[in-house]
Amino acid sequence: MTRPGDPSELTQHPGATGLAGVPSHHPSSPPGPERRRLRGGAPIQIGLLGCGTVGGGVLRLLADKADHLAARAGVPLVVRRIAVRDLDRQRVPECDPALLTTDTEAVVTDPDIDLIVEVMGGEEPALDLLSRAMEHGKGVVTANKLLLAAHGPALLARAVERRVDLAFEGAAGGGIPIVRNLRESFASDRVERIVAILNGTCNYILTRMREAGVSFPTALAEAQELGYAEADPTLDVDGHDAAHKLVVLAMLAFGARVADAEVSVEGIRDLEEIDFRHADRFGYAVKHLAIGCERGNVVELRVHPTLIPKRSVLANVSGVLNAVLVEGRALGPSLVYGRGAGDLPTAVSVVADIVDVARSIASGVAGMQTRGIALTDRPLLPLADIESRYYLRFTVADRPGVMGRLAGALGEAGVSIEHIVQEGEPQPGDTAVDVVMITRRAREGAIRSALDVIARASVLQRPPRLLRIEGV
Ligand SMILES: NC(=O)c1ccc[n+]([C@@H]2O[C@H](COP(=O)([O-])OP(=O)(O)OC[C@H]3O[C@@H](n4cnc5c(N)ncnc54)[C@H](OP(=O)(O)O)[C@@H]3O)[C@@H](O)[C@H]2O)c1
Repeated sequence: MTRPGDPSELTQHPGATGLAGVPSHHPSSPPGPERRRLRGGAPIQIGLLGCGTVGGGVLRLLADKADHLAARAGVPLVVRRIAVRDLDRQRVPECDPALLTTDTEAVVTDPDIDLIVEVMGGEEPALDLLSRAMEHGKGVVTANKLLLAAHGPALLARAVERRVDLAFEGAAGGGIPIVRNLRESFASDRVERIVAILNGTCNYILTRMREAGVSFPTALAEAQELGYAEADPTLDVDGHDAAHKLVVLAMLAFGARVADAEVSVEGIRDLEEIDFRHADRFGYAVKHLAIGCERGNVVELRVHPTLIPKRSVLANVSGVLNAVLVEGRALGPSLVYGRGAGDLPTAVSVVADIVDVARSIASGVAGMQTRGIALTDRPLLPLADIESRYYLRFTVADRPGVMGRLAGALGEAGVSIEHIVQEGEPQPGDTAVDVVMITRRAREGAIRSALDVIARASVLQRPPRLLRIEGV
């Protein structure tokens, strides 16, 4: 029988092998160094990589709630070193300048550090540093969704191999408790579908476009002024940030190891105020959604602007808030909802992970949580094979026969139309009008082939707008 902190439980597991994308060991150090041997009740020493927005929040929470956290972890939590790029930058008051270093390598190899918290962001050097930390027997907490979407399975495999924990509650949904929910609470159920608002910047912009009738560039400028959007908003408004988070959630919900580059992603740049008006007329709101479901062995993962019923709960998640709807086969729908970004909300998730991992280390059961995550390769359903209802908007010359050609092309492809409206009064001459259609459920491939036929018929004055409709 082993006791908490018994050194025999904490001995390094030998025999690491290389894994795709994760360096097996650094050339300058031997593989599998000894893990620090803890004595019962000894503090868990933390190495923090990054002290920006999230790192600052983590230091604040660790300082504000030190006693409470020590009671939850079973041992005190002590920050031993903090790696940053610029030693002179202004930091939160809880950041002790004496702990700062630019030597990230020294932090992840420090034999006195038990747990590494990565809140630097980016793919490298974060990947190499986390891999090195695990090799040195350290537990790891990260909020880095980009890294996990690209290398999550390899990092998890490395954690299992080294018998350490890799925790990442902050990497999907910021402060919303969804990672732990999927990993633990849904262990007894089967997740059938996830429908989520995972990017606060997009949700803020769409809320303003819907409620104030402003254009995308105006709403984006407002979001930037309020600090809700980066100076370069590409990752957010083009949908990649939400896609990274969806890949992370799919690992836990479906046990899916997927290639994140293959997830179908559309952003919100092309949306126009008029689409919000038409959507409203048909009883829908426009939301940027990340959708995941299992279809037998394949997994459907997609991120795009979507029409959802105005009265649904998700349609009323406004501003920068995020929400994740999970449908379990036994449980049915459940929803978590809250602040998906920001220093303290994200720090709540990161520090909860620190407590969990610290408790596992102190109790001599490091790596147990991570070993429970089983992944298998899952092909993604091609977008052409998904089935949905569609909102289609055609800008056409107002001439006799045009409507018939649109409806005819869709009919030929086997797509039924549920509603059709023409915007505005017919004018004399060759004026442009908008024709908006809501289709019945159809294969996306069929819709696309109809749109190709319509494009060749030279009736369109600009490319058509296609938005998918999701029942939630
Ligand atoms: N911000 C959020 O609301 C949020 C929410 C959820 C998840 N996340 C994730 O959390 C992570 C951190 O985000 P953040 O917003 O806190 O970023 P941030 O404000 O830009 O902070 C990054 C920190 O990492 C340090 N850093 C970056 N590269 C480094 C390097 N090569 N060597 C040493 N230090 C380095 C920076 O040092 P300097 O300070 O010296 O420049 C800075 O302290 C990202 O993965 C992000 O996706 C963020």
